[in-house]
Amino acid sequence: MSDLIHDDYRLLQVISRFGVSLGFGDQSVAAACKNSGVDASTFLAVVNFVQSEGRMSVDELAEEVSVVELMRYLQRSHSYFVDFRLPSIRRKLIEAIDCSAKNQIAFLILKFYDEYAAEVQRHMEYENTHIHTYVQLLLEGQVPTHHASYSELANQHHDNHSSLSKSSHELKSIIVKYYPSDSDTQRLADTLMDIYIMEEDLFSHCHLEDTLFAAAVHLLEEEVKAKSSDGKAHPVESFRMSPPDPGSEELSEREKEVICLVVRGLSNKEIAEKMFISANTVMTHRRNIARKTQIHSPAGLTIYAIVNGLINLDEVKL
Ligand SMILES: [Fe+2]
Ligand SMILES: [Fe+2]
Repeated sequence: MSDLIHDDYRLLQVISRFGVSLGFGDQSVAAACKNSGVDASTFLAVVNFVQSEGRMSVDELAEEVSVVELMRYLQRSHSYFVDFRLPSIRRKLIEAIDCSAKNQIAFLILKFYDEYAAEVQRHMEYENTHIHTYVQLLLEGQVPTHHASYSELANQHHDNHSSLSKSSHELKSIIVKYYPSDSDTQRLADTLMDIYIMEEDLFSHCHLEDTLFAAAVHLLEEEVKAKSSDGKAHPVESFRMSPPDPGSEELSEREKEVICLVVRGLSNKEIAEKMFISANTVMTHRRNIARKTQIHSPAGLTIYAIVNGLINLDEVKL
């Protein structure tokens, strides 16, 4: 799991929105997901979707996802944007612009921002209360009668995605082109950067809804329709099973012993003498430890040893 983040830090947001907490040590993706009660197939489908930037076949990925898990992910993303990201940018914006009564432009920019934030909030509330409610009925095995299909419902609403992107574009444009030059330029540039990053993030969220989520819900609709041909509701399996944990490479007892001696400050030669092995074998153990834990420094190994209960803090040579 930690390799994923090192390769692409944008996945930190994916991880947190799935509810997987950091501090997962050397756990594999399957194990970290399992510990957080997250469906690993859905997690990996979203990771692949984000990383491929639309190049992967959505239909193939849709086969892998649990609609329940993906919907939960989207709802968590909504609360991230509405409850955290938009208010935090607003606070920065207020610090960056002069909101005194004399500065009409600053006041108007803040007003524009608030309107934009309200538009995002309305959009996401609609999804939570209408679109996701429709999907929930499908999951319970009911074919909702008030709409012909998810695509009909979503098509009307997802036109709003382009409206959201127009509004954020306009907001950036107004700040860049018209804000008076006597402002706190550094703070304003920093806030603008945040707006750019949020816009990208929001675009990716909307794209996922329009493609991967839509394809997964379409499959669900087909399944429910086929099952309900007898007129009864058949709840749909809410989670596809997580694939079995392939097993992360566990450290052997000897390797753990080597770690304890390294963090106590012993040299390779001293470790070899203490463990009755050759210095070469110590080196091999250390290479394997570095490969398995992705930790190369004694300081890093010290944290590893404490977190994993291999050693007490008072035994460590600081
Ligand atoms: Fe959304
Ligand atoms: Fe949306």
